[in-house]
Amino acid sequence: MRTLPRPVSRRAFLSACTRASLAASVLPAISHRALGLATTPAAGPNIAQDPLRPQYHLLPPHNWMNDPNGPIWWKGKFHLFYQMNPHAAVWGDMHWGHAVSPDMVHWSHQPIALAPTPGGPDSDGCFSGSAVVYHGVPTVLYTGIRQAPPAQSTIREGKPTYRETQLLATALDDNLLHWRKQAAPVIAAPPPGMNVSGFRDPCPWQENDGWYLAVGSGQRGVGGAVLLYHSPDLRHWEYLHPLVEGRASGHAGPNPVATGEMWECPDFFPLGKHHCLLYSTSGAVFWTIGDYDRNTHRYTPRQQGVLDHGAYYAPKSFLAPDGRRILWGWIQETRTQAEYAAAGWAGAMSLPRVLDVDVHGNLTMTVAAEVGLLRQVQIQQALNPGSKSIHFSSLRQEFELRLAPQTSAATVRLLAAGKPAWELHLDYAAHTARSGGRSMPLPALAADAPALRLFLDASVIEAFLGSAQALTSRCYTLQPGNTELEITLDAGGSGSITQCELTAISPDRLTT
Ligand code: FRU
Repeated sequence: MRTLPRPVSRRAFLSACTRASLAASVLPAISHRALGLATTPAAGPNIAQDPLRPQYHLLPPHNWMNDPNGPIWWKGKFHLFYQMNPHAAVWGDMHWGHAVSPDMVHWSHQPIALAPTPGGPDSDGCFSGSAVVYHGVPTVLYTGIRQAPPAQSTIREGKPTYRETQLLATALDDNLLHWRKQAAPVIAAPPPGMNVSGFRDPCPWQENDGWYLAVGSGQRGVGGAVLLYHSPDLRHWEYLHPLVEGRASGHAGPNPVATGEMWECPDFFPLGKHHCLLYSTSGAVFWTIGDYDRNTHRYTPRQQGVLDHGAYYAPKSFLAPDGRRILWGWIQETRTQAEYAAAGWAGAMSLPRVLDVDVHGNLTMTVAAEVGLLRQVQIQQALNPGSKSIHFSSLRQEFELRLAPQTSAATVRLLAAGKPAWELHLDYAAHTARSGGRSMPLPALAADAPALRLFLDASVIEAFLGSAQALTSRCYTLQPGNTELEITLDAGGSGSITQCELTAISPDRLTT
């Protein structure tokens, strides 16, 4: 079983987080610009010139990003919040960063939306959560953490010293810049008698008889779980029962997220004629499609799989105004903590992915059409058995590979200065794709759909195999002007490759 790709244990982080938040509490909280954090790059490397920093993905102006939080469309704009450490390019002292976009592609950074309140239930961090509109007011539900004696602690990764509670804040303006926190938690403790392995990341939705809330949790030796609550008004919650439960993983270990017995970031929503539940645990994101009984409020998963086979975690979806279900996800670093701390930035947001269900009840994923706004000239070339190389100067590229149905194998490689830097092998005979020691199911070739769509943005590669499998990778050796894509087809193979340079979304790699 893979462990969380987080660089050091949460325990070590949490003690660092406490130190950082003590330092932060003497500063006037809330305004990112007041802290000089949104506009001024951190002292150190000039990250606007860092060739490894993506140019068309959303990422923090500097320092650390993890989960997407509370995506919402409000008054004609897309807002996306995210877990951010404003003090360093490592996890810790969680705040909610904020970015706004007219089209889910072009972003501008906004001041920090939520910061820990000294002495409050989120004094040691504002963890992940969701946004909804209640009586015309954008409202977020999120998890706060604060130090607590072991008997009241809910975080079970290492020494139990932090308590998680579910908190609420309401927007004070239509640009979602200012938020009023309700001082007391809306859920102050896990269900009585339950020795939870964690208790966080609330996901609310509305039904005819009020609001429902899914909270990520689990129990050691029993399994991960999503706990279900009901409320008339988002403020008073009654615990009902688990919405769904996993199984004991059989893995002992100090960290229940790593063993799969704590499910983080549940995201639950209707999709087509079914319901979809996403959750993150043991270093991966799992999707399930199933049926939700609105009378018993129980969910039965029918199909399941891994949402992305690479450096991708803790995704969160929202409903776009045209009815599309759009998913954002955290693209993780795969280099060492020392390397990304020195780089001055860490983490990026995936491109928006549109979710759907196919006729077999499986999840499908396609990159939102809006990303096409960035396309410049497209060049298409025919592919025959053997290898073809495509040279390009900027590291902002989209490739679309189409293969004739008789193709039995293809290899796609990125070469940096002539040396292999990233490789994906598509073995249609074995229905398997392989990359960097990982294997994943390979969807059969369809006459009318691309076999592979690949988005390259500096050190980020998002690859989509048909519409069912995704692989997000990081590659830190590519150099602008010295990189090529090589495609090799087997003896019976043929098809085409389309290359398209994409436009940067800012002149300074989104550092301001
Ligand atoms: C997932 C997660 C969430 C938590 C947040 C803290 O990556 O661990 O469960 O709310 O990150 O940053």
